[in-house]
Amino acid sequence: MKARLKRHIVLVGMMGAGKTAIGTELARRLHVPFTDSDAEIEAAAAMTIPEIFARDGEAFFRDRETQVLARLLGGAPGVISTGGGAWMRAENRELIAAHGLSVWLNCDLDTLWHRVRQRSNRPLLQTADPKGTLAALLEKRNPVYALAEMNFPARQGDTIETATSRLIAAIRATEPELLEAR
Ligand code: S3P
Repeated sequence: MKARLKRHIVLVGMMGAGKTAIGTELARRLHVPFTDSDAEIEAAAAMTIPEIFARDGEAFFRDRETQVLARLLGGAPGVISTGGGAWMRAENRELIAAHGLSVWLNCDLDTLWHRVRQRSNRPLLQTADPKGTLAALLEKRNPVYALAEMNFPARQGDTIETATSRLIAAIRATEPELLEAR
């Protein structure tokens, strides 16, 4: 379906929730641009996220994240996937609310852990007990993610394709005018 978006669709949620994978597929199906705030931060800094955290610290990263989000949200409407911590900053939530529909990809701990455990690209999980860290982050963040306009719970066994189909149907049910056919 070729869509003209009235505003951005902004995916929020924990690391491992599938924001980049589902966002890429959603944008492909709707024929709209896809951007990933983490990738944009890395491109602008010419460094990876672990390198940015190691050299400049988390506070620096969070400021870059807000700048990148503001830039992406000011562009032509598309699908934007955000880093897991982006939604935690009130300023970012306000920016997103002003320009887009926020969608929480709501995923349980075991699914998230299964997806992130093999990878070393998340500096926040470089702890002695990464699963415990992930669980603590999830518990702290879930009430904030719940402030998103849409709550989209992951379903066990969903592929990226089926999750994306369900998401398109859910967006259409919530806000039919957002996806205008072109
Ligand atoms: C973070 C999530 C990461 C990345 C950074 C911090 C977080 O993005 O922005 O490592 O605070 O949850 P993903 O959610 O894409 O892994």
